[in-house]
Amino acid sequence: YREVFFKLKVNMARKIQKNKMWGGRFNTDQDKIMLEMNSSIEFDSRLYLEDIIASIAHAKMLGKKKIISSVESQKIISGLKKIKIEFEKGIFNLDPLLEDIHMNIEANLQKKIGNVAKKLHTGRSRNDQVATDMRLYMRKQCQEIIKKITMIQKELSKKANKYYDFIMPGFTHMQIAQPVTFGHHLLAYVEMLERDKNRFHDALKRINQSPLGAAALAGTTFPIDREMTSKALGFTNPMANSIDAVSSRDFIIEPLAAASILASHLSRFSEEIILWVSEGFDFIELPDSLATGSSIMPQKKNPDIAELVRGKNGRVIGALMSILVVMKGLPLAYSKDLQEDKELTFDAIDNILNSLEAINAIIKKLKPKKENLSSAAQKSYSTATDLADWLVSNLNIPFREAHKITGNIVRYCEKKKIKLSELTIKELKSFNKKINDDIFNVLDAEQSVNQKKSFGSTSPLMVKKSAAKWIKKLQNEKK
Ligand code: ARG
Repeated sequence: YREVFFKLKVNMARKIQKNKMWGGRFNTDQDKIMLEMNSSIEFDSRLYLEDIIASIAHAKMLGKKKIISSVESQKIISGLKKIKIEFEKGIFNLDPLLEDIHMNIEANLQKKIGNVAKKLHTGRSRNDQVATDMRLYMRKQCQEIIKKITMIQKELSKKANKYYDFIMPGFTHMQIAQPVTFGHHLLAYVEMLERDKNRFHDALKRINQSPLGAAALAGTTFPIDREMTSKALGFTNPMANSIDAVSSRDFIIEPLAAASILASHLSRFSEEIILWVSEGFDFIELPDSLATGSSIMPQKKNPDIAELVRGKNGRVIGALMSILVVMKGLPLAYSKDLQEDKELTFDAIDNILNSLEAINAIIKKLKPKKENLSSAAQKSYSTATDLADWLVSNLNIPFREAHKITGNIVRYCEKKKIKLSELTIKELKSFNKKINDDIFNVLDAEQSVNQKKSFGSTSPLMVKKSAAKWIKKLQNEKK
């Protein structure tokens, strides 16, 4: 199919070659491979809206500055608005022979309003045009990502508030370490996501600057007003150096780096969901609506949604690596290598947005299994640290020594196959005769979490407060 389609494309391209927008200088046909590799319309058509908006701002400015007449400016703008409507209705005829979205829109404008369309490109180049389009695209996507992060933080905070005192095992080295609360574990992600969000907010400051008017690389002889187009497009300022404006793509690298970090957080969360629904853990229920079955094993209910989020993470990080490699050897200013920024960016952004949606859906339906969580929290002598702390606070034993005594007690329990809370006072006294009955106040998982005092710790009281603080803070953030 690809071969047939391509032959068709080449034949048609040769027929209209002489009419190409930049055809003045050329008299031989373009090679097949040149046409094939150069074309970006298959993927950059999704920049249609940004391209039209930026062209309208440019045309308005050309009219205002009398570089073209105001009638010409009006004609161009109304033509562009018609094109926008055609795109929205899905009836715009994309011409695969015109290499990119910029050429497609300009050629179509010419069909609609005639030769005056040829004036739109005055004082502008596709180099500043494409950089402008991509910055507008990136700005919108970052705002979308920020919104979706907030949405997840809200869901997580709600659940943390609901399950603030559910006891679960906390892990280190994937081994049960100390009891924590379920709410506390969820709020850990709220904190990570907050930093993610701030990274996007921060990147936005640098994304939101206008390259428009830098032209090919050197600026232009026309008396354009870059301040005016910058303002019209909602940018904070026109970029100060025309060479930088058309050559830089750190406005893509930076949000992709933020997206990669975000994706790694979503992936860790997914990994935990996958563990938690597995039989060994059985901490949460996987809702049917988010699970898939097996084509051969009728009993299976798989957490594919979380696995997909974990997997897509690879593509997001891959995009970041790709753009870094594309950029690292590029001399200033524009080179066609820069066209490679698009597919990988679109793919990464699509995937991060989907992943955020998926994680949100999982959290919405998250139902922790209280009994299973709590009985797992009692396992593996999870309160041994509390026992050692008790020896320090109550018997004035230095921590290192308390650690050793507790280690001996744990070894004893292991041999006897009993929990710490099942020891008798007689047995405990055999390790240190000053130990008294008060020690039984710290050996149970619930007592353990209740007695945590330090700022940021897992006690239900603090978690409740923290969840409430987040709920309030997030409410004030616009949707
Ligand atoms: N499609 C091109 C891109 O994505 C647009 C810029 C082309 N500029 C040029 N001088 N050929 O980068």
